[in-house]
Amino acid sequence: MKVISSIQEWQAIRRSISPQKSIGFVPTMGNLHQGHASLLNKARNENDFCVLSVFINPTQFNDKNDFEKYPKTFEEDVKLASDCHVDFIFLPQANDIYHDNYLYQICESNISKLLEGKQRPGHFDGVLTVVMKLFNLVKPHRAYFGEKDYQQLLLIKGMVEAFFLNIDIVACPTVRLSSGLALSSRNNRLNEEQIDKSKLISQLLTSGLQHHEIRRQLETQGFEVEYVQEWQKRLFAAVKIGDVRLIDNVKIPDLISDIADKDL
Ligand code: PAJ
Repeated sequence: MKVISSIQEWQAIRRSISPQKSIGFVPTMGNLHQGHASLLNKARNENDFCVLSVFINPTQFNDKNDFEKYPKTFEEDVKLASDCHVDFIFLPQANDIYHDNYLYQICESNISKLLEGKQRPGHFDGVLTVVMKLFNLVKPHRAYFGEKDYQQLLLIKGMVEAFFLNIDIVACPTVRLSSGLALSSRNNRLNEEQIDKSKLISQLLTSGLQHHEIRRQLETQGFEVEYVQEWQKRLFAAVKIGDVRLIDNVKIPDLISDIADKDL
């Protein structure tokens, strides 16, 4: 496994890789956990080379505190990457990625304004811009994204179609603790009591209760609820516990087809 922090060095390596070999790419912001590992394992299994990027992207944070407190765990990340048999870890520097001072941006003007986009203005401009830059550098055949960030996944799929990028976007299911809590780098900032409490998020999202009732129960338990909202046959929530912001989403079971199955 090779760790590369210079863009020029990476580009030289990329040029040396035969066009016949496939590249699977997993972009991350580090502080890797089993959710990231599931993407890396899939990328490893489906491609000749597996490339991981670790870059805490400043432009997608609209909260300075969240950016500054984002956990940095380089040594543990290298260990997890090596356990997943990653070939290359790309760790670009912010000055090199944003040598244009973020004067050039990728913006989407419809679904990037909903849910997360509404709560975090500019967030998806930062995400799409950095992912486009990383795609142009890594030139992968396939790129792997988690359903944990479902809106991000759809926006990246949309960007790939809009700009005719020849990259397969592979959606990967959300990895959870046995309690149901979705794994997230931000969970590291929760204490044990908060981790225990946070299992309520996925439990309530899958409970079938009305949205206002889910919101009420979360609020009763001390969460600050930003939204509980249905979109694209999924139920989304964003909450704050202390100063830590957590998001989750689940597929809404297709009750109509369930009933049709039973009728048969
Ligand atoms: P990050 O939060 O590090 O997530 C990297 C990838 O891991 C994303 O595709 C995310 O959806 C996926 N992921 C995170 N938690 C997961 C879980 N519990 N189960 C399955 N997949 C999970 O998302 C980003 O970084 C950034 O926005 C990025 C795309 C790297 C652009 O900066």
